[in-house]
Parts: sequence; C-alpha cells; structure tokens
Amino acid sequence: MSEAPPPILRRNPYMEWIEREGLPIVEDYAIDLFKVATKPWARFDCAGAVVHCKGRGDFASMFLFEIAPARATSPQHHLYEQVIYVLEGHGNTMVELPDGTKRSFEWGERSMFAIPINSTYRHFNASGRERALLVATTDFPLKMNLFHNEDFIFNAKFDFQRANKTDYFNGGGDLIPLRPGKHSWETNFVPDLMQMELKAWEDRGSGSSNIMFVLADGIMHAHLSEMPVGTYKKAHRHGPGFHVMCVGGEGFSLFWFEGDKDYLRIDWKHGIVFPPAENQIHQHFNTGAQPARYLATGVGSVRYPLQEWQRRAGGDATANGKKGAVSLSMKEGGDQIEYEDQDPAIHPLWLAEMNKNNVQSRMKNFPAG
Ligand SMILES: [Fe+2]
Repeated sequence: MSEAPPPILRRNPYMEWIEREGLPIVEDYAIDLFKVATKPWARFDCAGAVVHCKGRGDFASMFLFEIAPARATSPQHHLYEQVIYVLEGHGNTMVELPDGTKRSFEWGERSMFAIPINSTYRHFNASGRERALLVATTDFPLKMNLFHNEDFIFNAKFDFQRANKTDYFNGGGDLIPLRPGKHSWETNFVPDLMQMELKAWEDRGSGSSNIMFVLADGIMHAHLSEMPVGTYKKAHRHGPGFHVMCVGGEGFSLFWFEGDKDYLRIDWKHGIVFPPAENQIHQHFNTGAQPARYLATGVGSVRYPLQEWQRRAGGDATANGKKGAVSLSMKEGGDQIEYEDQDPAIHPLWLAEMNKNNVQSRMKNFPAG
C-alpha cells in the first residue's frame, strides 16, 4: 500500500520526521526520564524516544538515547544543535570537527556536553554490563520546521569553525565574569555538574547561586542553579522551553498562571524534567538536608538569545548592566515575585515539608520561619 501524500497546508515537518523515524513520544508537564520506554532507533543504532514536555514551546524538544552495554551510536552530524545531559552510565564521545580534527572525552552520571554544530560524533557506552542513558535538549523542531529538508540537516557539508579549543573538550573552559546572574562558563563539556562552581545571585532568592553556560558557541542554552539548605527561590515567569532538570538534592516546584486558584506541584527527583510554559509562574523549593541543584536547558543562549523575551529576561549583559526581568520585581515592571509579595500560603506550605525532613529554615527574610 502506498503512503498517503503529505497534507498541502498546515504541515509540521518536525512531527512528520518523528513519525518517519518510528519514535515513541511521551508528553506531559513533568516527565521522569528514567521511566520513558524507548524503541530501537535505526538512525542512531541505539534505542530512543522523543520527550515532549507541555511547556517546551516551539523551538526545543528532547531526544532520549539508551545505549546498550558495550555498544556505540552510529556516527552522525547535523545542523541542529544539542546539549546532552548524562542521566545514567559512563562512556565517551568522539567528536570529529568539520575540519577533520578529532577530540574525545569521558563522561559519567551528571556530565553535560554540547557537540559543535555539524561535527560528527559517536557516543560509546564504556560499560559491558550497564546501559547508558543520555538526554539531548535540541533545537531540532526549530531547524526542521525552518528548512523542512532532512537531507540538508543531516548531510550538509559546512565547517562553522565553532568552539574547537582542545580545552573545551577536556573539562576546561573560560570563566566570563559579568555580574550576578550573568557569570558564564564557556566550554563544550562539564564532567560533573555537582562539582561545578557557582556564583552568588542573591536577587533570585536567599543564598541563591548560579552559572550560565556558553556551550560550543551555539544557540543552546544551559544554566545551573543551586538553593542552599533551608531556602527557596523567588517565583518568576518567562518564555517557554527551558527544560528544568533536577541534578541533586530534594525539593519541589510550584507552577501557576496569574489568577489561578491552585498550584501545580512537582516533586524533585533526579531524572524529572519540567519546562515552565510561557508566562507560567514557577517557584523552586529546597526541602532536604543537602543543597538542591538544577540544570535548565533550552534554545536561545546567553550569548545568542534569539528572541526578544530572552533579551528582556536576561537584561543587559555587561558588568553594570540593567537587571533582567527574571530577577526584577513585578512591581518594577519585571517578572519576579518578591518574598514579601508572595501568596502567604506558600511559606507555611514549604515549612510543613521542611518539618517532615527535620530541616530548619535559613530564610533571612522570614524571621518567624
Ligand atoms: Fe525560571
């Protein structure tokens, strides 16, 4: 039986491609990546799945790669960009830059890396017994819907000469000091996100710290944030597509839209991902006895923001720059809710969770807490 012809109007080349690849899709607000069922993915010679979080927006989605013991993915290069987070296992990735230069690096659980655009790469599972599970946040929906030509995306030959410093593949990088919230680490590979040094960003919450990443000089965004023990972040909102992943610690997040009577609550666990949707207000809470860290990945980097809302969210990226809307009070025209302006029900809700874990509040702004 011949295939039905594609529709004439309202096509979605990205979704048509997923269907042709025969990939399973999971869709939800929050997804436990460890529980996603994968299927053989011929293109990569491993198992895979597509992860569609409801708040992903139009530009980003996730591909999950499950590599069997002692196996490797097939060599690939393409015009879509990706930032990869290692959920489980250890192995190495070989990268051949478009000029023929080869690099390789070893990853383990909680490593993060980006492949410079159009470089050929293969992931190798170094274990003979355990699987490796990698999740890639990609701009493939953007690229596929933009060019709607699979052959161009996977077979174009062009050397973008991006981010080829040897140091960027061996765990080194360059610190770009700017200002709280904008300090950046430029690299292609971070061996262990739990060991990454963060910088104070008090405007986002009591004791809060973060680092922005510039990865492979590309448009993929990543930042890493931490809440110390006994603290939580201030609520804020921004555009869609920043895939928040719990890296370490315990806690929960609340989500709501302005005017909502109730909150959507998502409890933290390594492997959970949840991108807040467009203008969905969200707030992250540490309830455990360890600092809580999370990684956020998406499309539109701190160097190349892509969209106007991202420029507004990030503010002026200079040492004395104007604060971005994500850390500026709504009262001042920003998109953040200061502690004193938040729903009075929120603080006791957090304290009740803290009590269960026998952890004391260290929130300076709440003497009673
Ligand atoms: Fe956020």
